[in-house]
Amino acid sequence: MIKLTWDEHFSVGVASMDKQHQVIFDHMSAVSSALEEDAPRSRSALLLETFDIYCKMHFFEEERLMDEMQYPALAGHRRQHDLFVSDLEGFMAQKHQGLDGFFAIRDWFLNHILREDIPYGAFRRDHP
Ligand SMILES: [Fe+2]
Ligand SMILES: [Fe+2]
Repeated sequence: MIKLTWDEHFSVGVASMDKQHQVIFDHMSAVSSALEEDAPRSRSALLLETFDIYCKMHFFEEERLMDEMQYPALAGHRRQHDLFVSDLEGFMAQKHQGLDGFFAIRDWFLNHILREDIPYGAFRRDHP
């Protein structure tokens, strides 16, 4: 069982986004665990599908928030989100899905929160 735990240093300071990131951590834990246990493809595929849908919803809401606050780095941030979705869907289309491949996706997400999401939270605090 691979459990990924959200903690304060991932906080962007926007409660709704922090909540969604926590749900994403739970999705990523579930997918990692299924791949680690070599669960049937049907189960990992369903978990990946659910994760993919949730990420798209999250990105949509995050982009709307950044748009509302007129965040100057929105265009680049949106490109990062789009790239992530295409990487994730590329992984989902692979015949053999390894844990290492998913760890790369997971690490992308963690780094994205730290490097790209936290700055919009700071911008929001500075521009109330
Ligand atoms: Fe983001
Ligand atoms: Fe995010």
